[in-house]
Amino acid sequence: MKKTIDFTVNNEQKSVQIRSADTLLITLREQLGLTGAKPGCENGDCGACTVLVDDQPMKSCLMLTAETANRSITTIEGLHDTPIQKAFLEHWGFQCGYCTSGFIMNCHALANIHPDANAYEIENWLQSNICRCTGYEEIKEAIMSVLKTKEAGTSG
Ligand code: FES
Ligand code: FES
Repeated sequence: MKKTIDFTVNNEQKSVQIRSADTLLITLREQLGLTGAKPGCENGDCGACTVLVDDQPMKSCLMLTAETANRSITTIEGLHDTPIQKAFLEHWGFQCGYCTSGFIMNCHALANIHPDANAYEIENWLQSNICRCTGYEEIKEAIMSVLKTKEAGTSG
């Protein structure tokens, strides 16, 4: 049996019909066509499915859509020319790109929640995401450049 829930996705009100067991990842991809959040491990290990729920990074494969009623979801499709997106390009923070949207969502959240994070805290924060192409150094450089920019007060 399906039920209807309302939530906000990328600043737009949405209403979806879901089954109780539907994950947020499935709903975003299959009902809303937002395929930026990727299915990887689908058990909480890889972070490829990371989105923001009320501005906190969440693994959408582990979250039931039913839990997101009346909450605000941001996916990679909702970010436009953010400092972290530009930094990933400038620092070559990706190779095949499969993990990239998850990393960007997680890094975007870090820059907003802990703009003064140090290298150790960044390393810890990024442990929730896995890159099989092993581009970790470039990813760290990208996030560090954004945090430094913020400290200098010049970011957008
Ligand atoms: S697909 Fe969600 S953590 Fe891997
Ligand atoms: S860039 Fe290929 S998995 Fe990360």
